[in-house]
Parts: sequence; structure tokens; C-alpha cells
Amino acid sequence: MSITMRAAVILVCGLVMSGGIFSVPAHAGPNAKILIERKGCLVCHNLNGKGGRKGPPLQHVAAWSDPERMRAYISDPKGINPGSIMPPARLKDEELDAIVEYLQSFKDSAQAPENWPGKK
Ligand code: HEC
Repeated sequence: MSITMRAAVILVCGLVMSGGIFSVPAHAGPNAKILIERKGCLVCHNLNGKGGRKGPPLQHVAAWSDPERMRAYISDPKGINPGSIMPPARLKDEELDAIVEYLQSFKDSAQAPENWPGKK
């Protein structure tokens, strides 16, 4: 094998191992809808007609939950609502951002139920 071939092989291996070839471009971002399914949120929450009924429908939470509260609630529900039965989500920062941004996008049509969580 020539020196240049070897160099090329090493370069390609390096790129593959560092994830340089296969990594998703940063701007693509995590897909919030897929994350919400994969992280098990739909076991308890409904999203656009799909999912459970233990928690409030996710397309309505923006009616009472601003981005700051929502971010804190999803990471540590008991920190906001000590009686919460929701488990804290294990999410990377950018995943949490994507979910909060997505749920906030429903704000204009979101309606708070009578007994929204945390209502005193
Ligand atoms: C075990 C059931 C369960 C799971 C799993 C769950 N939730 Fe919840 N969630 C609830 C319940 C119940 C409430 C309302 C009262 C409470 O916290 O107990 C709630 C409340 C919320 C709220 C309202 C926050 C606020 O400001 O009042 C948001 C947003 C939310 N959940 C998002 C999520 C997301 C995103 C996931 C997935 C990462 C998730 N939940 C997983 C049960 C769950």
C-alpha cells in the first residue's frame, strides 16, 4: 500500500470514528414529536388524539405553562408541584428545548382545563 493510500485510510477511519461523516448536522435538531413518543410521555399524555389520560393533553399545556415553568416541570415535576406523579424526564438540554418549543407552539389554540396542575 502506498503512503498516500495509507494516509487516506487513516483519514477516513478517523472521520468515521469521530462521527464526522455520520453525525446529524447540528441545525437539524431533535424532532420533538419523535422525542415525546420515545421518552414515554404518551404513556400518560395525549398529543393530538394519541396517548394516555393520566396527564393533561400536551397540546393544551401552553395555556398555563410558560416556557420557563414548562422546562422546570419536565426536568423536575416535584420541584414545581410537590404532589406531582410525573417522573422527571432524562433529556439532553437540546431535547428539552425542542420539546418546550414544540409544546409552546400550541399556545394560541391551547385551553386550560378547570383543574390544570398547580391551580390553587
Ligand atoms: C407517569 C405519567 C407521566 C409521564 C410518563 C409523563 N407525564 Fe407529564 N404529567 C403527568 C401528570 C399526571 C401531570 C399533571 C399533574 C402531575 O404532575 O402529577 C403532568 C404534567 C405535565 C406538564 C404540565 C406542566 C405544567 O407546567 O403544569 C407537562 C408540560 C408535561 N407533563 C410534559 C411531559 C413530558 C414532555 C413527558 C415526557 C418526557 C411527560 N410529561 C411524561 C404525567 C406524566
